[in-house]
Amino acid sequence: MTSPTPTHPVVELVKAGFAYEDGPAVLSGVDFPVAEGRAIALLGRNGSGKTTLLRLLSGGLRCGSGSLLLDGAEVAYDRKGLTRLRTTVQLVVQDPDDQLFAASVGQDVSFGPTNLGLPEEEVRLRVREALEALDIVALEDRPTHLLSYGQRKRAAIAGAVAMRPRVLIMDEPTAGLDPHGQERLLDALARLREAGTTVVMATHDVDLALRWADEAAVLSPAGLRTGPVAELLADDDLLAAARLRRPWGTSVARLLRAHGLLGADGVEPRTPEDLDAWVAAGAAGPRRSFRGSARALATE
Ligand SMILES: Nc1ncnc2c1ncn2[C@@H]1O[C@H](COP(=O)(O)OP(=O)(O)O)[C@@H](O)[C@H]1O
Ligand SMILES: [Mg+2]
Repeated sequence: MTSPTPTHPVVELVKAGFAYEDGPAVLSGVDFPVAEGRAIALLGRNGSGKTTLLRLLSGGLRCGSGSLLLDGAEVAYDRKGLTRLRTTVQLVVQDPDDQLFAASVGQDVSFGPTNLGLPEEEVRLRVREALEALDIVALEDRPTHLLSYGQRKRAAIAGAVAMRPRVLIMDEPTAGLDPHGQERLLDALARLREAGTTVVMATHDVDLALRWADEAAVLSPAGLRTGPVAELLADDDLLAAARLRRPWGTSVARLLRAHGLLGADGVEPRTPEDLDAWVAAGAAGPRRSFRGSARALATE
């Protein structure tokens, strides 16, 4: 999938500022470009403005200052402009119970495409595709109130996916999921990304961000910093300002470099499985001593 104007980000906040009514500024001077095809983790502590930023990006809130661009052109907040935005960018809110409202999963997922006025056949096709992408085909006729939390999360995401957005935005999609639920969700996101969908995810899980994202966007009192995820999450000053912890993988990479086991441009392990594979492949350096320390680290 390619953008009609590939030199522009698909969506972009430029010098965006926002305050809730009678409240202080939550965001000011925020530049947030979302380039096509990327996996972007939006990080920040609770209350830092992640949800607000995602709502600005998806048009649910309007910038108090600055602007929102879609394919390089300013979004008009009228019916036509917002329809264009919402067929490009879909937001999945944090709590699936704020998103699901129809009696069954199939009805819920079909709501968006039906509302676009698409023919019944096309709606059916999109619902099927979205249920498959989220691995919940078997739940199509299930009443939404009988689903587990993880199933409700996936059903809510399927509703957004059925709109075939170029950009899928999710607010803390892994919050409340158990490890298996998180892996299933990451598998689903991998399938969507293979199909060309750009994904933005708000999270405060730095380990997940390092593992999953190409880019990070970090909110701190100084504003929003964007850049390659491994670079930003190795910046201790930025992490301290944002009150985030350093990811496990960043510490491992630092340790390996300090011991001469990972070259400056070596691929950093981002998960325990990466580290296992790296050891098994006999990556550079004195393997025997590394093996012992790697095993200790991996099981820590
Ligand atoms: N509807 C609202 N009305 C007033 N203030 C709000 C509202 N939603 C969020 N806020 C405030 O805006 C700030 C940022 O909140 P939010 O965007 O929800 O942060 P995050 O998602 O990072 O936890 C917080 O101080 C929060 O209290
Ligand atoms: Mg939030």
